[in-house]
Amino acid sequence: MIPEKLREQLAKARSVAVLTGAGVSAESGVPTFRDAQTGLWAQFKPEELATPRAFRRNPKLVWEWYAWRRELVASAQPNPAHIALAELELLFPKFNLITQNVDGLHQRAGSQHVIELHGNITRTKCFDEDTVVEAWPETDAVPPKCPKCGGLLRPDVVWFEESLPETAIGAAIAASSTCDIFLSIGTSTVVYPAAELPSLALNRGATVLEINPARTPFTDRAHFSLEGTAGVVLPVLAAVVKKGRKGGRKGA
Ligand code: APR
Repeated sequence: MIPEKLREQLAKARSVAVLTGAGVSAESGVPTFRDAQTGLWAQFKPEELATPRAFRRNPKLVWEWYAWRRELVASAQPNPAHIALAELELLFPKFNLITQNVDGLHQRAGSQHVIELHGNITRTKCFDEDTVVEAWPETDAVPPKCPKCGGLLRPDVVWFEESLPETAIGAAIAASSTCDIFLSIGTSTVVYPAAELPSLALNRGATVLEINPARTPFTDRAHFSLEGTAGVVLPVLAAVVKKGRKGGRKGA
């Protein structure tokens, strides 16, 4: 499953960057972003809910959609893909995990260096002050109000038409421009600026590997493309890297 040439590159790589998308959480039962919404939410497209305009128009609906997704995520468990990525992080001197996912499953699997491009659904912030709010008084109001300014609370995720957190995108660009190997896993590679990262790595001379059961607009440009699910391919990749880099993590 893992071509010999890729094994050699993995054995000598010093810096690895990974971009993950919703496909990595699919095997945890978290629907990918473009899968049709299920049940009550089937009538909406994410694009109609995950925008500042949708929140202004109907804050209750948007808050409840995220409350439903938060519950889904809370009951989901990290799958073998998340676990393999946490293991891989320990095997290279430099390893940056850049994720478009907002479910926090990478951290729950043990990944330490996670760059969250699109925020995190388990965090809440004030819509007006744009600051994270850890706690607020019990209330029946939906959405609840900011204890500081009285503004509405919202999930700390990046909505369509919003810009990505500067530190996160800056770190993602730095990691993608300086890595030896770039893994693009479980993402349709259609939403920018995240979708730019695999091309950036490629143009800077990194070896790029895509893991996805389906083709994407980037598949033909990757040096290696492993057609399969992340939950199956990544544990095999981690085992190959472990074997190829005996003695665990090389000194930085
Ligand atoms: N393993 C690996 N990849 C998978 C699996 C799996 N088990 N199941 C599905 N996939 C792939 C699909 O083939 C698809 O290419 O995961 C990708 C999911 O694509 P999207 O649903 O578009 O998710 P993503 O690429 O993360 O979307 C990017 O767009 O909508 C915004 O902010 C949202 O973060 C999201 C971003």
